[in-house]
Amino acid sequence: MKQLTSKELREFYFDFFKKHNHALIPSASIVPENDPTVLFTTAGMHPLVPYLLGEKHPEGKRLCDVQKCIRTSDIDEVGDASHLTFFEMLGNWSLGDYFKEEAINLSYEFLTSPEYLNIPKEKLYFTCFGGDETAPKDEESYKIWQSLGVDESHLFYLPKKNNFWILGSGIGPCGPDTEMFYDTGKEKCCEECNPACDCGKYLEIWNDVFMEYYCDEAGNLTKLKQQNVDTGMGLERTITVLNGYESVYDTDIFCNLKNKLEELSGLKYIDNKKSFRIIMDHMRTSTFILGDDHQIVPSNIGAGYVLRRLIRRAIRHLRKIGLSENNLVDLANVIINDYKNVYHELEKNQDFIKTELEKEGIKFGKTIKDGEKLFYKVIKHLDSNVISGEDAFKLFDTFGFPLEMTEELAKENNLIVDVKGFEEKFKEHQEKSRTIDAGSFKGGLADNSIESTKYHTLAHILLASLQKMYGENIIQKGCNITPERIRFDFNLDHKMSEEEKLELTNMVNAVIEKNIPVVMEEMSYEDAKKNNAHGTFEDKYGSIVKVYSIGDYSKEICGGPHVKNTNELGKFKIVKEESSAAGVRRIKGVLEK
Ligand code: ALA
Repeated sequence: MKQLTSKELREFYFDFFKKHNHALIPSASIVPENDPTVLFTTAGMHPLVPYLLGEKHPEGKRLCDVQKCIRTSDIDEVGDASHLTFFEMLGNWSLGDYFKEEAINLSYEFLTSPEYLNIPKEKLYFTCFGGDETAPKDEESYKIWQSLGVDESHLFYLPKKNNFWILGSGIGPCGPDTEMFYDTGKEKCCEECNPACDCGKYLEIWNDVFMEYYCDEAGNLTKLKQQNVDTGMGLERTITVLNGYESVYDTDIFCNLKNKLEELSGLKYIDNKKSFRIIMDHMRTSTFILGDDHQIVPSNIGAGYVLRRLIRRAIRHLRKIGLSENNLVDLANVIINDYKNVYHELEKNQDFIKTELEKEGIKFGKTIKDGEKLFYKVIKHLDSNVISGEDAFKLFDTFGFPLEMTEELAKENNLIVDVKGFEEKFKEHQEKSRTIDAGSFKGGLADNSIESTKYHTLAHILLASLQKMYGENIIQKGCNITPERIRFDFNLDHKMSEEEKLELTNMVNAVIEKNIPVVMEEMSYEDAKKNNAHGTFEDKYGSIVKVYSIGDYSKEICGGPHVKNTNELGKFKIVKEESSAAGVRRIKGVLEK
């Protein structure tokens, strides 16, 4: 078996799939565009949803990539051997091209061939979808594994909860999957132990999803226009398994960061595993969020809130090992350096990353002081020697004041904290953030309804109109679409006056009324730039791009879909104009029939 580094695994993967005629596409942003269903990209398929639904991809029908992903629902588990909030997902894609037979053959070849991973066949186990009233048993996949020589003792049928894949929102392209497991050699935990068991004997390393259905809001499955393949191989997990490591933190991925922490603190990882792991994980995720072209900053809502929690928890653990917020930038430097050749945006945005980390470090220092003040206010009014769970949670949630610090201060004042009460509040909160991760909103990229498509085209007209009003320096800072409305963020240094809003509304409606066809052309990225096509997030484009033009009014690089003619849009109305961040305005708008 090959003992690969992360760099080698990426290279092997791309080399193999390029040899099989897949185009390598760059990772999309870590923040999904035009998708209000989630805060972060959670899987490789997320940015490709429009293409799974039938939109033509400019790079063709066979693609491969490595996608930056964030999943924060298990944030509180970080510190153990395996949980991570950021990970890279390797994937290969068939957009209406090959299906089960070729996908499984490709996976098996990559896993077992001496030229690639060279995993001994007897170490591999596979699961297939067992079928239910909504979709049939996947006997085809089972038979394909058998035809490759896999013994029945290594093959399992599992129910929908194990072997059927869909985005967390539960809406969108989906289908049965077949999953590939590596046997770590551990003893079976019980007689029935199989790959569905989470005792750690079998570790999933890859998942081939056969996306041939669309699941609507009511949970009904209908066949998609085309049969697709979506696969996902967790890079960190696979490296850990291939090298026989106990923990993902033992891989090359964390080597430089670990060394830096040992050097700065004078302590050993081996004696301080939990804090080291939390710092390494949270700093890596924070650096990637800040390094994204969307310029997310720490705040108290949405993605900014997740970022704030990550940075503050990292600081808390830095303090535990004798370091402080003054070391955030040292660590970010290591991460930027480690990843800059794969994710160029980190180096490009390094000043932003460092400035925001420093700012948040200073704020947190102040928070600790404010938290202490509140703490003393709370204890003044106590009628027993117990600080309630609610107060402890308020300190934590509002001030980012960690429970351990409340407990420490309580001890100094001969008080105790109702930890159980705190944990209950905390659980409620965790459930809330799980819902956010799973997607608590309607709409999103998986929604290719005609209503949402209209708003996608409206976004192009809005950007072009704003540029004509205020100048070419206006850029789209964010866009969030549901079938009912658009929320469009852009840079502007002042509140729009009533006159300005009216002017914008009139400009947009004039374009709509002119019945202008919306035309798509494919061209090289260089040609698109030469043609002055706007592209908001430059890093994520491949070599061939789609350019959508609305007469000579607007020209944008975009994946689509769009309406055919502006006259399909209806009448544009601004519902609200407000500030969304410093120097950024937000327009909420609707299209009326
Ligand atoms: N979309 C599949 C996953 O994330 C491949 O596991």
